[in-house]
Amino acid sequence: MSNEHLLLSQVSIEFPTDNGPFKALDSVNLTIDKGEFVSLIGHSGCGKSTVLNIVAGLYEATTGGVILDGKEVNEPGPERAVVFQNHSLLPWLTAYENVELAVKTVFKGKKSKREMDEWIRHNLELVHMEHAMDKRPSEISGGMKQRVGIARALAMEPKVLLMDEPFGALDALTRAHLQDSIMEIHADLGNTVIMITHDVDEAVLLSDRIVMMTNGPAATIGEVLNVELERPRNRLELADQPEYNHYRSEVLKFLYERQRRPEDSAAKTESAQEGSGSSGGKEEEATAPETEAA
Ligand SMILES: Nc1ncnc2c1ncn2[C@@H]1O[C@H](COP(=O)(O)OP(=O)(O)OP(=O)(O)O)[C@@H](O)[C@H]1O
Ligand SMILES: [Mg+2]
Repeated sequence: MSNEHLLLSQVSIEFPTDNGPFKALDSVNLTIDKGEFVSLIGHSGCGKSTVLNIVAGLYEATTGGVILDGKEVNEPGPERAVVFQNHSLLPWLTAYENVELAVKTVFKGKKSKREMDEWIRHNLELVHMEHAMDKRPSEISGGMKQRVGIARALAMEPKVLLMDEPFGALDALTRAHLQDSIMEIHADLGNTVIMITHDVDEAVLLSDRIVMMTNGPAATIGEVLNVELERPRNRLELADQPEYNHYRSEVLKFLYERQRRPEDSAAKTESAQEGSGSSGGKEEEATAPETEAA
């Protein structure tokens, strides 16, 4: 690949647990070009968030590592902004102030007060939140909080935008609006994006590539699907296109034929109690047909 922007090389991770080390990821290898939109998809508990957290610098790989523009990632940094599913806004700050905090951290000494103000407003406008920038998180809806979270991440001008199921908790309409906003913003700014999703339609609609992960433990990349649909993409037009449906069924086949969860059997409850860290509650969700939810 000509443009080695973001490289995950032989990434493996073991978590210490009461029953000894738990190998969550094994030899994850991925090269991502600048401006590429990559989705990570896989069954619950397979290790998607772990991959994202390693790229974010929040977890350290046990072996292998991540290189961004020639520099090894070993701690969190503003060039890799994260949007979490549960909109992690500070509740005592307004939407404006939440974005301001991030902007001050990144642009202190580089932008004047006025420039910062303009930049904060600009980013809130990008996600259509300018009308509610003086509201606190408790006064706005879930979708609006998520918009502010995205504005905050974008305002840091990250090289890489990392999103962990950013629209998972939202109703279908709000989710569709936000997906459209993300496509517009991505077309404008050309950020590199890694997004985790459970939603097959969302993955096909937004991605240049869909990275499909095998089930854990020792999860890795199973298959990678190149989505060669022209941009800008329109969800209504795509719905009737055979290519779109082909991509969609490729992902579904991977998830439900080639990577059927072993937990789909009665053994599920037992494995959920194994106590490999934080997975206990999540495993319960494993059989829910989340990929069909959109
Ligand atoms: N800090 C940790 N300590 C121990 N085990 C962990 C830790 N973080 C993750 N794990 C385990 O690693 C595996 C992958 O977890 P991860 O959260 O990455 O899955 P996921 O694919 O994001 O799942 P979901 O779709 O439910 O969010 C799980 O078995 C989980 O229990
Ligand atoms: Mg996760």
